[in-house]
Amino acid sequence: MKKDLVSIGDLNGEEIRELFKISAGIKGKQLDLAKGKTLVLVFEKPSLRTRVTFSVAFFQLGGEVLYLAPADIGLGKRESVPDVARNLARWVDAIAARTFAHKTVVDLASYATVPVINALSDAEHPCQALADFLTIYEHLGSGSPRGSEAFSWGDIKLAYFGDGNNVCHSLMLTAAKLGAHMVIGGPQGYGPKDEFIKAATDEAAKTGASITITNDAHETAADADVIYTDVWASMGQKQEAAERRSLFAPFQVNSELLKHAKPDVLVEHCLPAHRGEEITDEVLDGPHSIVMDEAENRLHIQKAILYKLLTSR
Ligand code: CP
Ligand code: NVA
Repeated sequence: MKKDLVSIGDLNGEEIRELFKISAGIKGKQLDLAKGKTLVLVFEKPSLRTRVTFSVAFFQLGGEVLYLAPADIGLGKRESVPDVARNLARWVDAIAARTFAHKTVVDLASYATVPVINALSDAEHPCQALADFLTIYEHLGSGSPRGSEAFSWGDIKLAYFGDGNNVCHSLMLTAAKLGAHMVIGGPQGYGPKDEFIKAATDEAAKTGASITITNDAHETAADADVIYTDVWASMGQKQEAAERRSLFAPFQVNSELLKHAKPDVLVEHCLPAHRGEEITDEVLDGPHSIVMDEAENRLHIQKAILYKLLTSR
């Protein structure tokens, strides 16, 4: 595995599958691999899941965690990003960074000699996408109650509704690397960025995956194994929230939409949810929802990522 996990593009399909295996093997175990080591969390945006799961994961590996809140260091303002990276690398063993500009996490990774993990940037949320696919695998893959030994990612259709955002980009790349089919349905002009469409499509051509983009909600949901949605306005876009609400309304994940998918469709959401906007209470809290398994898996997959990064050096 590379030194850093800045993008899903840093992993190949085999490494993603290996992370799933590692996570199952070390789930719930207290280890001492990170004894005497420190992970620093450098966060420019708020967080519940990512902050807590990175902390608990590193504690379970035997290490210590330091949290630097958005106002603490003034990344790129009080001190340049390369200087922050060079300093941190002299004191800590790994960095998890949640940033606005994707370039900030890219620069941290280039200038720090220790592993840097993208804990969400404006462009990607790789740990989220890995947890999401791990959760799908646990529900539908080999050895799962509904899975067959002949499970293939090529049999899975993931239908994503709403904004072509950071989470969508990382899901597209993961689907493409694993060989799954992903359809993205959202309003015109709010699709994923071209560079991610190109990267995912190029990868899909090698693995048999497919990435489809449409503005038709019913077409998106048709025959889906998994329905996924995320907020319509991400952190840093709150000023656009009101105008987005009406544009995105046809892509709300509600009971009517679920009728167009497979009868036993699974529903994912990275959380936090804006209940009543991108998803209704009855779906989020209903029998198809696996959102709490996803949230739990953030812990297990990030523990596996940290394990792999520490043992690869
Ligand atoms: N899904 C996720 O990353 O949640 P937080 O923003 O609370 O970390
Ligand atoms: N797309 C959302 C994800 C939050 C976990 C955001 O960036 O705000």
